Amino acid sequence: MNNDNRMKAIFLTAALAWVAWACVPAQTSGLIKQGSAVQLTVDGKPFLVLGGELGNSSATCAADIERIFPKLERMGLNTVLVPAYWDLTEPAEGEFDFSLTDKVIEQARTNGLRVVFLWFGAWKNSMSCYAPAWFKADYKRFPRAETAAGKPLEIASVFSEEVFRADNRAFTAWLNHLAAVDKGTGTVIMIQVENEIGMLEDARDHSPAADKAFLSAVPKTLIDYLKANKKTLHPEMKAKWEAQGCKTQGTWRELFGDDIYTDEIFMAWQYACYVERMAQTARGIYDVPLYVNAAMNSRGRKPGEYPSAGPLAHLIDVWHAGAPGIDVLAPDLYDSGFIDWVAKYHLPNNPLFIPEIQLSDNDGVRAFYVFAEHDAMGFSPFSIEDGSDDCNAPLVRGYAALKELMPLLTKYQGTGALHGLLFDGDNKERVITDGDLTVTCRHYFTLPWDARATDGSAWAEGGGLLLRLAKNDYILAGSGIVAEFAKTTEKDASGTAKALGEDGFVLADGEEEVASVGGGKFAGMRQGLASVEEVSVNGDGSFSRVRSLGGDQTHQGRHVRISVDDFKILHVKLYEYK
Ligand code: DGJ
Repeated sequence: MNNDNRMKAIFLTAALAWVAWACVPAQTSGLIKQGSAVQLTVDGKPFLVLGGELGNSSATCAADIERIFPKLERMGLNTVLVPAYWDLTEPAEGEFDFSLTDKVIEQARTNGLRVVFLWFGAWKNSMSCYAPAWFKADYKRFPRAETAAGKPLEIASVFSEEVFRADNRAFTAWLNHLAAVDKGTGTVIMIQVENEIGMLEDARDHSPAADKAFLSAVPKTLIDYLKANKKTLHPEMKAKWEAQGCKTQGTWRELFGDDIYTDEIFMAWQYACYVERMAQTARGIYDVPLYVNAAMNSRGRKPGEYPSAGPLAHLIDVWHAGAPGIDVLAPDLYDSGFIDWVAKYHLPNNPLFIPEIQLSDNDGVRAFYVFAEHDAMGFSPFSIEDGSDDCNAPLVRGYAALKELMPLLTKYQGTGALHGLLFDGDNKERVITDGDLTVTCRHYFTLPWDARATDGSAWAEGGGLLLRLAKNDYILAGSGIVAEFAKTTEKDASGTAKALGEDGFVLADGEEEVASVGGGKFAGMRQGLASVEEVSVNGDGSFSRVRSLGGDQTHQGRHVRISVDDFKILHVKLYEYK
């Protein structure tokens, strides 16, 4: 190539690179609706966040980020949730340092991870601990919330426009930087606005500005929302409004009564409106799905005893009315009652995303449960860097199986074909009816011959999913589960069945009936296992057979099972006979 042509080639390459850069769509994540599900999309395809959130101080040092992110990749995460700290981003007023954000994005790209950033701005677990020191010290310009006794708290007042301006200005600068470094690539797929916002010590702020607002009229926007959504309001919200006669004008006390729950509603409105303004800022600069997370009002705690007024289930209407620009209200789950908490957050108007859950060996099966049962868009144990990256660790195995299953899960979420399974020592069984088929799913330790069921050891949670691909064609996947398939009529009409040992002999004390007794002569079809294959799932959703399971592994055709020590994906084909 002569010099002229070489120059032309260089010019052409540069021009094409520029065109490619200029044509890239802004960001790559969004939300779509599929059936009854709302799904997160990344690079134009539905995506499940197999995530983990870093401990609060773990992204404050470049060396820690470089050490942790490769481990997260080894653990099988596809997404890391990372704080963006206001105090470290704006150490002096108006002077910004984005080096930690850049390091997070660089390490995420190097290690095949997407990022969800958590804006630790004006509030973190109700407090304002991540506000910069210059902000904290200037308490006259940036006033505090106060208790009823007039004690100022290290909680910036939501009633102060100066607080909003400072927080929003830093958020704006940080978002502009994100847009500059990531808009074409889309490593950052979601943003959390603030962290576990809410009031503590008292259910509401009692500063002079707060008192004034509390004595004024409830805003029309909230009242219009209550009127328009009366039928579907959260039962607690509805009851409080109805108890005062469903008034359509008046003060907070006049509309909702005089108690700490009304105080909480009032504060929820203030926080939601503040967050909405932050959301609008993000929309204009870096338009990815946005969410707000909540600390749960668990263990019987009352408003003022947990970060009150956050996006809690009983305040969901206030948050929807005040912050329509937020896509998801998300629970942080640290207490018992997992199944109940997730059900409270998977609503027709709120998709489930779990940004924080206690890191535990049960997380692998819990992730299966929420993706299948609640069409969840993401799951993320907290302080993930403390987890094990051993390839046999339950979360690592669970995420590996879920990564394979992602094409199927995203295809079938919202269609009614997926069921989540989650069992422990108290909840051992779930019966799923699919047309004329009954699938009885149980904890693996309900098999009478497994010693660990009765030797006093705590039952690891068992769980997974059942997916109907077609008639007589199912996927059973997860860990620690056993499933029996029977015709519904067969189950209703069969004679006495006795508990069997692993060898199929009736157990010595096996007089117990394990199926109901119909009486009369058996009529109708029975259901059998045609084949059970352990499979891996390919990127296009097709299967590759790993091995066939039969004989002892299916109890001679009686059931399909996955041990508590295993994570498996089983392709089950059924047939009928009489
Ligand atoms: C919930 C908060 O959102 C996290 O940032 C962290 O403080 C955890 N609690 C600690 O358990």
